[in-house]
Amino acid sequence: MNGNKAEIIRILQSSGGKPVSGQEIGSKLGITRAMVWKYIREIRKDGYEIKSSPKVGYALKSSPDMLYPEQIKAGLETSLLGREILYYNEVESTNSIAKELAAKCPEGTVVIAETQKKGRGRMGSEWQSLPGGIWFSVILKPSVPLEYTAKITLVAGLAVSKAMRELGVDARIKWPNDVLIHGKKVCGILTEVDAEVEKIDHVILGIGINANVRQSEFREEIREDSTSLEEEVGKPIDRIAFMKQLLFELEQQYIKFTTQKFSDIVSEWISLSDTIGKEVTVTTPVKIIEGKAVGVTDKGALLVKTKNNVREEIIAGRCRY
Ligand code: BTN
Repeated sequence: MNGNKAEIIRILQSSGGKPVSGQEIGSKLGITRAMVWKYIREIRKDGYEIKSSPKVGYALKSSPDMLYPEQIKAGLETSLLGREILYYNEVESTNSIAKELAAKCPEGTVVIAETQKKGRGRMGSEWQSLPGGIWFSVILKPSVPLEYTAKITLVAGLAVSKAMRELGVDARIKWPNDVLIHGKKVCGILTEVDAEVEKIDHVILGIGINANVRQSEFREEIREDSTSLEEEVGKPIDRIAFMKQLLFELEQQYIKFTTQKFSDIVSEWISLSDTIGKEVTVTTPVKIIEGKAVGVTDKGALLVKTKNNVREEIIAGRCRY
């Protein structure tokens, strides 16, 4: 969006619904009143409801239910994540776009879309991405070795759960990368890495959240095991407010990840885990492990105690229970 349009929206938002004159907006932006009027008409076309009263000015009555960057950025309490947001109405996959752009974009750039035509899930699965959800990817550039990738997924799961819990729901993390409410999946995370000589160049953290989606809209194969924030909260959520909270939590956890011992994150992860203490079956590329999930190591691996009392450390795999 054009910078002047974004700035006019910001001015109207921060006036708390009180009218602001065209003269005042124009002088703040260094443009004429006629230009202000031109931008107001364009902003209305984007779905904002703006009342104009002659000699009084413009007042913002409502904002569209879209994940527009200027809405997310207004009052965003982060210094790294979401300072740059690339918005699309429809894409194939935000992870694919983020991957293409990663080298040119600063760390913390967010790619967000209202819908995805070819949303990608783990292990080549398709990720259904209906309007009303929140589908986005964050470009991260941590200076850490490749083996830290598993930890980043845990960091993201923790941040998502914490942001959701602010809505009053009992969000819990299923190792490695799902967030569940009442045992049903509400979010999936796809972490993709580009590395050179064992050192991470960039990470694409893809997060898919069933926000304002009805259970009846899910594909039949996943319907029974999926839920949405709208279903759990009992009404549609404010996606913009949630996105701000999520970026904030994600940044907090990311800072911890880059500056503190991982064991601090692990303890909090375990306190919000759905998996620990359960009998699980984990399928890895080389074997299937059955046993009780008893912990997570400082490498981000799931610890499973098998029937033969062997403690298996699993760094990646599909977990069922
Ligand atoms: C999974 O649970 O299988 C992971 C799902 C990840 C989906 C998100 S939606 C945003 C980003 N873009 C994609 O294509 N996938 C991730």
